Amino acid sequence: MADVPTQEAPMTGTRTRSTPLTEDDLEIMRILHRAFRRDGARLARTAERYGTESEEVHDALLVGWHGFSSSLHHHHTIEDAHIWPVMRAKLADRPDDLAVLDAMEAEHALIDPALERLEHAFDDREADRDEVAGRIEELLTLLRSHLDHEERDAFPLISELVTAQEWQALTKASMKELRLSDIAQISPYLLEDASPAEVRVVLDELPAPVRLVHRFWWNPRYQRVRRWE
Ligand SMILES: [Fe+2]
Repeated sequence: MADVPTQEAPMTGTRTRSTPLTEDDLEIMRILHRAFRRDGARLARTAERYGTESEEVHDALLVGWHGFSSSLHHHHTIEDAHIWPVMRAKLADRPDDLAVLDAMEAEHALIDPALERLEHAFDDREADRDEVAGRIEELLTLLRSHLDHEERDAFPLISELVTAQEWQALTKASMKELRLSDIAQISPYLLEDASPAEVRVVLDELPAPVRLVHRFWWNPRYQRVRRWE
């Protein structure tokens, strides 16, 4: 995260307690949401041709699906366990804004079971196309409206309320809760079809050693695996 001089420490560039989040900090959330929409479009295509694919393609679909569903699940867990609580503590006298966070949690609580229902449908090779298509439609309807709602109402609150220090601390705490195999998927997943500018934003946020691991290990390995189609 880039150093932003503040009024409290204008000459040193040190991040003080009140350093606001940078646009790049939030841009990573936007890039992640774009990755979810990218995979939402892949799921919509899956709904059209489901049941006609070979076993090989079905396996590739499952690999892509698991990358998407686990990334989405982890993202919601991090928001519910780490991001919203930091904000709630500052919103005691703002019921309308607290209601936005309640809505975010309620929407997550609908999406996770929809992910599970689709997971079961993909696991059952007897499940017919209409059933799978119905579950994909159910999930995508929930997901699209949730992403739009979060960007419209929660993102402005995040940038208003969460300081850069809190962001760093909660990012660190949430990474500790993930397995190494999950962490190894995050940057390649985010950057799968990112623009050069997006790649720069994400890689700049990583410590130099992690950037190297991404470049020479995680990303090449991710690219080698057939996904979705
Ligand atoms: Fe989100």
